[in-house]
Amino acid sequence: MKILVAYASTDGQTRKIGRAVADWCADAGHAVELLPLADAGDIDLSRFDAVVLAASVHVGHYQKALTEFCAAHAAALGAMPDLFLSVSLAAAGHNAEDWQGLEKILADFAAATGWTPNAVEQVAGAYKPSQYDVFRRFVMRRILASRDPDADPSADIEYTDWAALKQRLVGWIDTLPGAGRS
Ligand SMILES: Cc1cc2nc3c(=O)[nH]c(=O)nc-3n(C[C@H](O)[C@H](O)[C@H](O)COP(=O)(O)O)c2cc1C
Repeated sequence: MKILVAYASTDGQTRKIGRAVADWCADAGHAVELLPLADAGDIDLSRFDAVVLAASVHVGHYQKALTEFCAAHAAALGAMPDLFLSVSLAAAGHNAEDWQGLEKILADFAAATGWTPNAVEQVAGAYKPSQYDVFRRFVMRRILASRDPDADPSADIEYTDWAALKQRLVGWIDTLPGAGRS
């Protein structure tokens, strides 16, 4: 099978996740194309058997590149197997309000684009003060303090559970029509 893995990433964690996902698809014997969503605008989705999209939450929204891509390709996306990876810091915790917030962000995204993913995984991202400017460091320190009060706010922290993500991805691949034949 041929799988498109396309991502939007502001600080690099979703790009890292996209790369890992592409490697796991290839390890499972599938042909993979890995692209930033910003470069995927006019791609012909009929060349692919399935698609994995990934984007991260910044101040309650996914990147514009994701929204534009999904709005432009809503019909084609709706006709193919998909997995959407929603990357955030909220997904690193167990706060019910945070998780409701993630559901709302997803619902708003679906309403705005006309595309509702069939399969969604909420993925914990990373806290990377080494990459933030003054404003983003301020915003993120507040988010971190409420979600992980014992964390050192001056150090980069990766919350992504790679083993769980791989298990999810491999499980999704197994659901694809003809997955066993690659
Ligand atoms: C300015 C800023 C705002 C953020 N806003 C949110 C948010 O509203 N909710 C949330 O759960 N995570 C939020 N995050 C955390 C990011 O989703 C997380 O760091 C993720 O790993 C970023 O992925 P990326 O490196 O691919 O951009 C925010 C991060 C930054 C830097």
